[in-house]
Amino acid sequence: MNHPPVARLRALRSVELLTPNFAEAADFYEEVWGLEVVEAEHSASWLRGTGAEHHALQLTRSENTGLGRLAFAVGTPAEVDEAARRLQARQIALVTGPGPLDQVGGGYGLRFHDIDGRLVELSADTWAVAARGRDEAVPVGVTHAVLNTPDIDASVAFYRDVLGMRVSDWSEHQMAFLRCNADHHCIAFNRAPWVSLNHVAYEMTSLDHFMRGLGRLRHHGISPEWGPGRHGPGNNTFSYFTDPTGLVCEYTSEVAQVVEDAWVCKVWRRTPELSDTWGTAGPPSQRIRAHMAGTPDGSPVVPPVDAEGAAA
Ligand SMILES: [Fe+2]
Repeated sequence: MNHPPVARLRALRSVELLTPNFAEAADFYEEVWGLEVVEAEHSASWLRGTGAEHHALQLTRSENTGLGRLAFAVGTPAEVDEAARRLQARQIALVTGPGPLDQVGGGYGLRFHDIDGRLVELSADTWAVAARGRDEAVPVGVTHAVLNTPDIDASVAFYRDVLGMRVSDWSEHQMAFLRCNADHHCIAFNRAPWVSLNHVAYEMTSLDHFMRGLGRLRHHGISPEWGPGRHGPGNNTFSYFTDPTGLVCEYTSEVAQVVEDAWVCKVWRRTPELSDTWGTAGPPSQRIRAHMAGTPDGSPVVPPVDAEGAAA
């Protein structure tokens, strides 16, 4: 039986990160990274960018380190209900919903596990917030997450066939970039020994905002661990940092805009010239590679120092 994709995803809405260093992480993302706390409780904090999403990041106090959940926007509650029917037709169990989500930020949604066991949320009708001005050199919101996976073909097939994403480009058979809107990628997979979070990227309004953001971090005594540079696949600028949890966060801007039906998927060779087209970033350090490799989702231990990692 030929199943259609379960939904038409509009955007990566937000990411939940689990952290044993909750207070330090919340301080970092607010005081340094440039997000704004919209709500805070003992065990969780919700932070927004300047865009219209209620929150871009949920930090959750945990004994574990890593990704808690990926949340994607769909158009309407009816689309959530249809997604529930289609997931069930594919024998994919719902963890939550479909129904009103009992969470800060509201919404009508559902949750299920992807092929690697990550928690995925689809939601509509979340709380509105007024977009703030874009003058400040702080993130608009979350724009992509890169996910480590031991079976990249199975992961790509799941997000393409079940979630309806399109493959924009490959970086050899090491990384795959997938889109759900005009942005070149909102999810990328990186072939790795285990399932973990590689990094989360935050959109800066322009190249000027991106550079001024780096300047602001420099005033906090923080320099990029890889970057600034511009990637070949996606053509986006990049600068990577490590948060107090040991998870990698990225400032990015100017990601390629895809025109559907005109875009041709390419396979990029993994050369220094193509991963760092400006030639300003050099190779990623062992340290940032180890943080990008992370530890298997749910593991409380610190990252190994000699693990394989990769970056988008
Ligand atoms: Fe990235």
